[in-house]
Amino acid sequence: MPGTVIVGVQWGDEGKGKITDLMADRMDFVVRYSGGNNAGHTVVCGEEVFKLHLIPSGILYPHIMAVIGNGVVINPEVLLQEMSELSSRGISTGNLKISCNAHLVMPYHLAFDRLGEISLGSAKLGTTHRGIGPAYSDKAERLGMRVQDLLDERIFRKKLESALERKNAILSKAFEHETFDVDEIVRKYMEYAEVLRPYISDTSLLLFNALEEGKNVLFEGAQGTMLDIDHGTYPFVTSSSPTIGGVFTGTGIGPGHIERIVGVSKAYTTRVGYGPFPTEETGEVGDVLCSRGVEIGTTTGRKRRCGWLDAVLLRYAARVNGLTGIALTKLDVLSKFEKLKVCVGYSYGGKIYHDFPPHQTIFHKCEPEYLELPGWEKSISEARSKEDLPPEALRYIEFIEQASNVPVEIVSVGPKRTQTIWMTEESRARGIEEGPYLYEESFDADNSSNFE
Ligand code: GDP
Ligand code: IMO
Ligand code: MG
Repeated sequence: MPGTVIVGVQWGDEGKGKITDLMADRMDFVVRYSGGNNAGHTVVCGEEVFKLHLIPSGILYPHIMAVIGNGVVINPEVLLQEMSELSSRGISTGNLKISCNAHLVMPYHLAFDRLGEISLGSAKLGTTHRGIGPAYSDKAERLGMRVQDLLDERIFRKKLESALERKNAILSKAFEHETFDVDEIVRKYMEYAEVLRPYISDTSLLLFNALEEGKNVLFEGAQGTMLDIDHGTYPFVTSSSPTIGGVFTGTGIGPGHIERIVGVSKAYTTRVGYGPFPTEETGEVGDVLCSRGVEIGTTTGRKRRCGWLDAVLLRYAARVNGLTGIALTKLDVLSKFEKLKVCVGYSYGGKIYHDFPPHQTIFHKCEPEYLELPGWEKSISEARSKEDLPPEALRYIEFIEQASNVPVEIVSVGPKRTQTIWMTEESRARGIEEGPYLYEESFDADNSSNFE
């Protein structure tokens, strides 16, 4: 059962890119299963910084097969841009596979995303404006355009005509917005199809065969548990399933193939976009976390909202994802606080909730109940083992383990690969060195497509 899942446990941007990159050296496949280019995953390799939006972070390793699963919504223009940017930096995308069943983000999805936000007024979500919600809506409405439609111009045109009939009517009548032209979109998307054709594949079968052969497959989550359409802070969520269930619907493999589920959590909490955030700190503490943590959105450049760690949410994420381990990131950012607060319950209507409340009003209006833990003065960015950490930092980690009932396997103390502490004997044994691993050798992986 060689499948490992990396899942964000907060509102995204927990450092999934770094943890994926760390774990990918022992993997054969890295797979994205949900979201689209609303994601922004940062990987720091030596002096180089990569920001990946659609392509799995494992692409940076020449030996990895990088797979975009059917649960992802793909804007082909953005995908091609990302591929060409990687190529210009010496990273080959020859090992990329794209599911034939993934849905496409279409130009009108971007328009509907923007218009939807405008019409919500002060109730808007603060989406990334990448057309993600409208693309998933069309998927559910059975009006979506899929990657496999790119392979046959006649089918593509027919489906597009039918979709645009409805879309254009709404755009012109409800929004007085300009309409979209079938021929123009067909021309553009057929150009994309020419380039993408060799990468399109039955990725469900590919992954099943790989897992059956005992290959190591890493599923790279995007977004986070609290942005999940079912389990997050609805309606202030994204439109997909970043939690564990998304792995199965988003790739077409079964749960029996999963061995480890690693939840990535920041040592504090951040959120971009609108919606409830009980432990948010809008004053000095928030500013300190934001500036020390460089909390600027990878995709949109927006400032992230910051606050203390919420252990109630961590426990909730452990439950809904069935976490087997935690990767705790950005612990370095908490250095120099005299006291650290952690939320252990929500107070509302004279009651304390120790579990994520079932009604959104409670979560929107509650006051966090805090426990105070001692902080530590010295910088821990240079710590490389448990023994290098001050006792207060170890106490903080221990608290997280007790609150979530999940072991902390990895502690990250900076963006670089080397700024990592492997907490267990097993993880310590597989610690890795910062490596000049970028494309020194050519690869000869089987790149055949089912659709060539
Ligand atoms: P993702 O979307 O979950 O992959 O996270 P992002 O890449 O959007 O945001 C995480 C940011 O934190 C990136 O800029 C990372 O380089 C950075 N980062 C990751 N781990 C650490 C860490 O342990 N300490 C610090 N200071 N920065 C980190
Ligand atoms: P990664 O993978 C942080 C947020 C948006 C908005 C809400 C809905 O980098 O962690 P959408 O465009 O998806 O319809 O926006 O979801 N959001 C993210 N926040 N990290 C992300 O991805 C996010 N993807 C979406 O800010 O609040
Ligand atoms: Mg991000």
